[in-house]
Amino acid sequence: MTANPGRTEGDSWDLASSVGATATMVAASRALASQGPDALLDDPLADPLVRAVGLDPFIRIIDGELDFDDDPLLNRRARIEQMTVRTRFFDDFFTGAAQDGVRQAVILASGLDTRAYRLRWPAGMVVYEVDQPQVIAFKTDTLAGLGAAPTAERRAIGVDLRDDWPEALRRGGFDVGRPAAWSAEGLLPYLPPQAQDRLFDHITALSAPGSRLATEHVPDPNAFTNERLQRITERWQRAGFDLDAADLFYQGQRSVVVDYLSGHGWQVAAHAVRDLYAQHGFEFPEELTAAFGDLNYVAATLK
Ligand SMILES: C[S@@+](CC[C@H](N)C(=O)[O-])C[C@H]1O[C@@H](n2cnc3c(N)ncnc32)[C@H](O)[C@@H]1O
Repeated sequence: MTANPGRTEGDSWDLASSVGATATMVAASRALASQGPDALLDDPLADPLVRAVGLDPFIRIIDGELDFDDDPLLNRRARIEQMTVRTRFFDDFFTGAAQDGVRQAVILASGLDTRAYRLRWPAGMVVYEVDQPQVIAFKTDTLAGLGAAPTAERRAIGVDLRDDWPEALRRGGFDVGRPAAWSAEGLLPYLPPQAQDRLFDHITALSAPGSRLATEHVPDPNAFTNERLQRITERWQRAGFDLDAADLFYQGQRSVVVDYLSGHGWQVAAHAVRDLYAQHGFEFPEELTAAFGDLNYVAATLK
């Protein structure tokens, strides 16, 4: 069963609604992790971006007015560590690809990600950001208004990732003849299972040998059970995010990312998030698995 009554085929959103608000939620965690003298992340634009979206609960979270000390995933420290593990994984992925000579990055579902503005990209780097048109336009305008300058050549592509985004990317200047580094961070559950396969098919078709891809992987093809979605929803609602995960995520059996990519010519390395926590010296919150399944971050290279 892959239908979702909360979603429709061509549904669209801004950063304050539906799937778009989840981008603001994770940006609020990056803003938190970038605060203070012992900050674990350095994403100074996350704070003004979240404020510009204007969703009150997220502003109160970054202002320290809302904390959930008793919640193993929502308390301030847990949010910071969760986002630090995730952000550093994808940062290191892009930095490593650039060091190895890749000069095109494609950030799929870029949301309020500011890597195009904060990573130290080499000269000649082109960073594509792909997300819904309203999301792309809001971020571009807000950051321009803040006087922020990209640290690479940023090309923003507003398109639905269920549509013909490869054509939009090519029109934006993407060079299929050169290797690229792709990321799909925090995206897959918001795509229907077939659209997830299509996304990887498109990425593979657009990738010259040596291209790389970073994304998330849960070994269980039925990871998003009703119980898990309920846990996520309860947490979102406690945090003031008044939406139902079951209305945003697509349930039903989906391809296992590692198997799918391996079967399509990618050499895949999966990193259990539990191990990444340990590498950072953080204690792994078991509740993360209860809510999201056995999460891994994967980095793959096209053979
Ligand atoms: C949880 S946010 C993650 C944003 C960003 N990757 C990050 O980690 O901060 C999910 C993002 O996926 C985007 N997204 C989901 N489905 C999409 C679709 N069909 N087309 C374009 N963007 C989509 C949303 O607009 C949103 O920005």
